[in-house]
Formats: sequence, C-alpha cells, structure tokens
Amino acid sequence: MSDISKYNNVQVALHWLTALLIVFSLLMGMFVLEATPNSDPAKVTALRGHMLFGGLILLLTLARIVWRRISPQPPHATTGNPMLDKLGVAAHYALNILALLTALSGIGIAIMAGLPEIVFNGQGALPETFSVYPPRIVHGILTKLLLLLVVLHVLAGFYHQFVLKDRLFGRMSFRK
Ligand code: HEM
Repeated sequence: MSDISKYNNVQVALHWLTALLIVFSLLMGMFVLEATPNSDPAKVTALRGHMLFGGLILLLTLARIVWRRISPQPPHATTGNPMLDKLGVAAHYALNILALLTALSGIGIAIMAGLPEIVFNGQGALPETFSVYPPRIVHGILTKLLLLLVVLHVLAGFYHQFVLKDRLFGRMSFRK
C-alpha cells in the first residue's frame, strides 16, 4: 500500500477546477439554457459559454484520469466499513464516466444541430428546439445523474471531515 498521505498539486488543481466547471455548467444548463428559448438571441451567447466550458470539462477529466495513472497516489480513503469503501471507489469511477459521457452527449447535440457553425461562426440559425435530437434526451438524463453523484460526493466528503474527523479535505489541498 502507498505511504503517500495526500494528492499531488497537479491533481488538486485539476480536481477543484473541474469541480467548479461541472457545478457551474450544471447550474447554467438547468437555470439559463433550459429557461431560454432558442428564438432568444441571448441563447447563442449562453450556448457558446456552455460549449466551451463543457469541452474544457472533457479535456480536464481526461487529463485527470491520465495524471492519476502516471503519478503516485495516496490509498483510497477508508471509512472502517468495507461496503462503504467499495461504494466510494465505485462512485469515483462513476463520477469520471458520467462527466465524460455528459460532455460527449453535449458534443453529440452540437454536431447534430450544426452548433459549431452557428455559435462560433455566426452562420445559420438555431433549430426551434433541441429535443428532436436523441443526444439531447441522453444529455438531460446524464446531467441529472451527474448532479445526484456530485451531491453524494460532497456529502461523503463532509461525512469523512466532520463525522469521522479524518481530515479528508487536507488530502485534496495544496497544503504540505
Ligand atoms: C460535463 C459537461 C456538461 C455539463 C455538466 C452540462 C450540463 C447541462 C445541463 C444541466 C443542461 C440542461 C439539461 C436539462 O435540464 O435537461 C444542458 C443542456 C445542453 N448542453 Fe450541456 N453540459 C455539459 C457539456 C456540454 C457540451 C460539451 C456541449 C456541447 C458542445 C453541451 C451542449 C448542450 C446543449 C446544446 C444543451 C441544450 C440546451 C437546451 O435544450 O436549451 N453541453 N447541459
């Protein structure tokens, strides 16, 4: 077993940047994109930001997975309950997979609706709705699952930090 007690600084930076972008994209998708009809000129601007952030999440998640494989890692945090520990490992895999699939389904909508040309080149107009594209349905479902897992992930972190008092947050910080 590894005797390293915390994640390295690259991993800490990648983790918090991705976390911030995912939370922001979830909120922006649910409260701004969903609430703005495609006929509103402001929709193109909102989509531009969302697509850039979503693309960045995809790249950062891939970078995080690669960096995790090639750099030394602390052992997985333990709760003292083997069942909970297994769930914790599974939840971390699921978070990465869901983040990747969510971004890929977003790219699927963009390709089917010709968004790159419309949003970044100003050529053409948005379709009346995105709901006619299957990746839009998938994107809607995956974002809800991702939100649920993010909430569970945060609650698990609080459980470690404040109930088990094992200073888990220190492992994901820049402190020595
Ligand atoms: C992990 C990254 C992403 C997250 C967390 C995310 C989040 C969201 C959310 C929460 C919604 C609203 C869904 C709903 O309430 O049903 C949404 C819609 C959408 N997203 Fe994403 N998204 C991501 C990546 C992307 C990417 C990479 C693209 C395109 C390149 C994209 C394009 C879209 C589009 C076109 C919509 C539909 C907006 C509408 O129906 O008005 N998303 N996204």
